[in-house]
Amino acid sequence: MTTVATSVNRAQNQSAGKVMSWEQTPHGIAGITDKAYFNICLYTAKIVRVQVSRTVPFTPNPYSVVASPEETPVNLHEEADFLILETKDLKIVLNKNEWALTYYDQNGNLLNQDDPAFGVSWLGTEVTNYKKLQPHEKFIGLGEKTGGIDRAGQAFVNWNTDYFAYGVNDDPLYMSIPFYIGIHQELAYGIFFDNTHKTTFNFGASNRRFSYFSADDGDMDYYFFQGDSVSEIIGGYTSLTGKLALPPKWALGFQQCRYSYYPESEVFTLAKTFRDKDMPADVIYLDIHHMKKYKVFTFDGEKFPNPKAMIKALNAKGFRVVVIMDPGIKVEKDYLPYEEGMDQDLFLKYPDGETYEGQVWPGWCAFPDFTAAKTREWWAEKMAFYTDAGVDGFWTDMNEPASWGQHTPNLINFDYEGEQVSHRKARNIYGMQMARAAQNGASTNGQERPFILTRAGFSGIQRFAAAWTGDNVASEEHMLAGIRLVNSLGISGVSFAGYDVGGFCGEASKSLFARWMSIAAFAPLYRAHSMINSNDAEPWAFGEEVEEISKNYLKLRYKMLPLWYSAFYKSTQDGLPVAKSLAIDYCFDDHVYDARFQNQYICCDALLVVPVESHKEITKAYLPEGQWYYLYNDDSYKGAQEIYVDTPINYLPVFVKGGSILPLQSPVSHTAEQHDGILRLHVYKGEGTSSYIHYEDDGVTLDYQKGKHHKRTITLDSDQQELVLSTVEGDFTSSFTALQVYFHGFSVGTATINGNQASVHREQLAFLQPITDFDPLPDNRLPYYEIEEIPVVTVPYDRDKITVIFDQ
Ligand code: NOJ
Repeated sequence: MTTVATSVNRAQNQSAGKVMSWEQTPHGIAGITDKAYFNICLYTAKIVRVQVSRTVPFTPNPYSVVASPEETPVNLHEEADFLILETKDLKIVLNKNEWALTYYDQNGNLLNQDDPAFGVSWLGTEVTNYKKLQPHEKFIGLGEKTGGIDRAGQAFVNWNTDYFAYGVNDDPLYMSIPFYIGIHQELAYGIFFDNTHKTTFNFGASNRRFSYFSADDGDMDYYFFQGDSVSEIIGGYTSLTGKLALPPKWALGFQQCRYSYYPESEVFTLAKTFRDKDMPADVIYLDIHHMKKYKVFTFDGEKFPNPKAMIKALNAKGFRVVVIMDPGIKVEKDYLPYEEGMDQDLFLKYPDGETYEGQVWPGWCAFPDFTAAKTREWWAEKMAFYTDAGVDGFWTDMNEPASWGQHTPNLINFDYEGEQVSHRKARNIYGMQMARAAQNGASTNGQERPFILTRAGFSGIQRFAAAWTGDNVASEEHMLAGIRLVNSLGISGVSFAGYDVGGFCGEASKSLFARWMSIAAFAPLYRAHSMINSNDAEPWAFGEEVEEISKNYLKLRYKMLPLWYSAFYKSTQDGLPVAKSLAIDYCFDDHVYDARFQNQYICCDALLVVPVESHKEITKAYLPEGQWYYLYNDDSYKGAQEIYVDTPINYLPVFVKGGSILPLQSPVSHTAEQHDGILRLHVYKGEGTSSYIHYEDDGVTLDYQKGKHHKRTITLDSDQQELVLSTVEGDFTSSFTALQVYFHGFSVGTATINGNQASVHREQLAFLQPITDFDPLPDNRLPYYEIEEIPVVTVPYDRDKITVIFDQ
């Protein structure tokens, strides 16, 4: 192959130009243009990787993609002006006269098209791919990005940033996920720009010609996803970047944090109060005050004289303990982590070899280079300090990395798996590599599943950690913005995410806190947190009414644990989020992008959550197509319509999708507590058949990977009035011994179980406890709702196939 001219024109846009030569490769083609080298590689019939660079070898990101190209039949033919690659699902046309790609689906529909003049271009070292805007094109995803769910007309930057009290339209925040989905004319496609430099995504901001993605430097290296649905595209993205590892069950319970709980006696009081007040909770966090002078891998001996005994006592009450870990290592003689880091050459350095120092909580710090394997291994080993004390989970904070001044010099050197790169290329990946080290360290101490919560990250972070959206503010708009951030993270592969309930900065009002607790009961990560020197912000700190509301929703969360756990299991398999923006299942319905409805989402594939400000008493909700039931009273509605819903502070509007199978259990005070043994299956009449996979295991160990699980498909045929539980797979013994089926929307007179007559009884049902002492709504509407006289059938729960037929 000949070489290309690499002279760099800094002033003018320089596009890749004409294709000079090309050759077939095992998975596609490679070639050169008059300005660049390119490689087009089919990973599957629906996923293609495009690399374009003015220099070779390419310099790919070694961290995000964990899949290799699969054997994919590709038809290749050349025409006078074009090179055409075709799989059974995708047709890619390369214009040879001016390097530009056009993508079509199997039916010949245009999915996506490079700007014919600019295609892939450079301005200095900045590389950009310009894409022609399609009619009414919408853009969703891009991870932790503020604003509306449709990102059309806006631009965003990926540069991991410590941003205290960010505004609800500010950018960039802590985590970068350069993956988005474009939607137009009943078609959808995805693009993942796999470049860890600072990147910009412009979705038609300040122009109406193109969208584009650009990087400050490095290769144009992106993956294009064809998909028949948004779900399939997200599935494609997570098949490349990996899926969530099954979290320990306790991480799905309620988590209480503040900056900071200390001393030990305060932590004990906190734990005791949860139990005394019968408010379920699983996790207590130790923020930076657990350390001696903020030095990582230390405990402050005065505040916490015996961490091991403290954690043991908390464990005995059903609490798990998560500690914070910041990357900055205090520069201090005789402080072992510092000495070891210096001796073993583990810290970031200036190009002349001097250790880079920046200021964080402990003062001047050195920063471990998590982009080097040896540093990650060392860090993981150091974590034995915590795991030996019984710490159960780790919270990797400040890992953008943050330092006072917020401006790490770009010349700092990072190993980047031996490539030796500058801060420009490594910053965005740093936090993810810290989380990776933490995951290894957390799991070295035995059999239990690790739980890591991270602030910074990059594409693929879902393999290592859950994410939270950093230093939000106690305001109504932040409460709603957090939902969109979490839902956008979900579109971008990060299924396990949450926000600081109550708001980190500022003080929540009573009603705001109550509403936030209610909404977050339907968030993947359910964690309250607040800032140093702020008022108490535990669920009982806002008076009796808020306490009752919080308790109601905490209990509902715990009753729904079988649903949550099965939903998380499903997410580990299909890569789809447990909290789904409506743009996933209803992407062609314009209502879902409407500012009035864009905060609504589907939780665990069954519940439509309608988040609403706490001071509102009534709201408009949009019910997408299908049948919907109001959770609290079973009122049923046809979908594809806007309705008004009352929103008294003690009831967050939630609708159940027709056809849903909701598995519930009796309330428990923490996830490891044994429930009453009855699996309550609430089935809601829909149309045709629907199914759900019920999943159980021991909730803590990795034994599930060796077949120690309990899994069965439960199928509801709403038309035939039949419910079938398939034979159980796996050899874990279920924690349930009986099954009660609650029929919603069906009028059931008789029922048979495996052909034998069964008795149908009727029960009154309330998903929440009435809060009778408090004022009803102003015009005396009911302060609470109840489902009256619902038909129920009791069934013994065993491993064999169970068929329940229910008749009028
Ligand atoms: C910043 C984090 O975002 C916040 O959650 C934490 O409490 C403080 N650092 C102190 O560790």
